Amino acid sequence: MFLINMVDKNIFLVAFSFLSLQIQILNCFMETKELKEAILKLKKEKNAVILGHYYQRDEIQELSDFVGDSLALAQEAQRTECDIIVFCGVHFMAETAKVLNPQRKVLLPDMEANCSLARCCPADAFAEFKAQYPDHMVISYVNCSAEIKALSDLICTSGNAEKLVNSLPKDQKIIFAPDKNLGGYINRQTGRNMVLWNGTCTVHDALTAEGILKLKLANPDAPVIAHPECNAAVLQVSEFIGSTKAMLNYIKKSDSKRFIVATESGILYEMRQANPDKEFLAVSAQEGCSCLECADMKMNTLEKLYNCLLNENPEIILSDDLIEKAKQPIIRMLDMSKQLGIIK
Ligand code: 13P
Ligand code: SF4
Repeated sequence: MFLINMVDKNIFLVAFSFLSLQIQILNCFMETKELKEAILKLKKEKNAVILGHYYQRDEIQELSDFVGDSLALAQEAQRTECDIIVFCGVHFMAETAKVLNPQRKVLLPDMEANCSLARCCPADAFAEFKAQYPDHMVISYVNCSAEIKALSDLICTSGNAEKLVNSLPKDQKIIFAPDKNLGGYINRQTGRNMVLWNGTCTVHDALTAEGILKLKLANPDAPVIAHPECNAAVLQVSEFIGSTKAMLNYIKKSDSKRFIVATESGILYEMRQANPDKEFLAVSAQEGCSCLECADMKMNTLEKLYNCLLNENPEIILSDDLIEKAKQPIIRMLDMSKQLGIIK
C-alpha cells in the first residue's frame, strides 16, 4: 500500500512538473509575442527604423526592417529618413550610423556591445604607430572606433576591401588596421605589402584549420565558406572567402546542398531562411561546442530593444569635431564603392 502511494505520488509529481514546464514555455511564448508586438508599435509611433546585423539573435533579425552586412547597413543608415535609428549590432556599427546621420537619434540596445577588433586598437597607440609611417595612407576596416576612423584616409569593409585596395596606385604605401587577418588576406589577394596593425577578431581567430579539416573529412560534399577575419590557415582550407553578404550570395548560386560555415552562427538564421532546401554545418573553436558566437553581438535582446525604444536610450553621442573627421573616410569608401560598382 505504502509502495503504491509512493508510486502515485511520484507520477503526480512528474505530471505536475511537466505541466508547469509547459505553462512556463507558453508564458514565455506569449511574453515574446507581446514583446515583439510592443516593439513594432513603439517603432511606428516613434518613426524609428531597426537595422540589424546578420549575427544578431534570430528574433531580432526577424523584427529588423533591414538586415545586412556592415557595408549594406552603413548604406542603409545613410539612406534612412526616419527620426530614430535603432542599431541592432555592435558599437562601431551604431557609431558609423551616427556619423552618417548626425541630425538623427541613433540608439544601441546595449551600450556594452563592442567588438574585439575595436577594443584592440586604442586611438593614442594607433596615432603613435601611424607617426612611424608618415608617407603611408591609412585604410581602416570599419570594425574600429570613430577615433580610429578620424585618423584614417579610407574605411573599408570585408565586402569591398579587396576592390578598394586594388583600385589604388600600385606604388601607394598603405597602413591597414586593425585586423591583421583581413589585412593579410588582402595583401595575398592583391600582391601588396600593407603594414598591418596587430589586431584580430577573437571570435574568428579562434577557429583552427585542424577543426575545419575534421569537419571537411566527415562531410566531403560540403564546401567550406569562411569570413576573411579567420586566420590564414583556416582561409587556406576554405573554398570560398567573403563577407557575410558575399557568403549568402555564394550559397544561393552554388549547386552544393551542404556547406561548412566558418563564421559567427547568427548568419545561419538568414542562410536557412533563404535556402530551406540546403543544409548548414556550424563550426566551433572548442571541442564539444557546436557553434561560434560573438558575445558582443548577442548582448542585444528583445527586452533591451524594447526598453531602448521606449526610453530612447542608450544613445550614441559624438562630438561635432569627431563626426566631421570620421565622416570623410566613410564617405570616401561609399563614393569609391559606387564608382567601382560594388554598391548602387
Ligand atoms: P560583415 O561586414 O561581413 O557583415 O562582417 C562584420 C563583422 O563584424 C564580422 O565579424
Ligand atoms: Fe567584432 Fe568579431 Fe564580433 Fe564581428 S564577430 S563584431 S569582428 S568581435
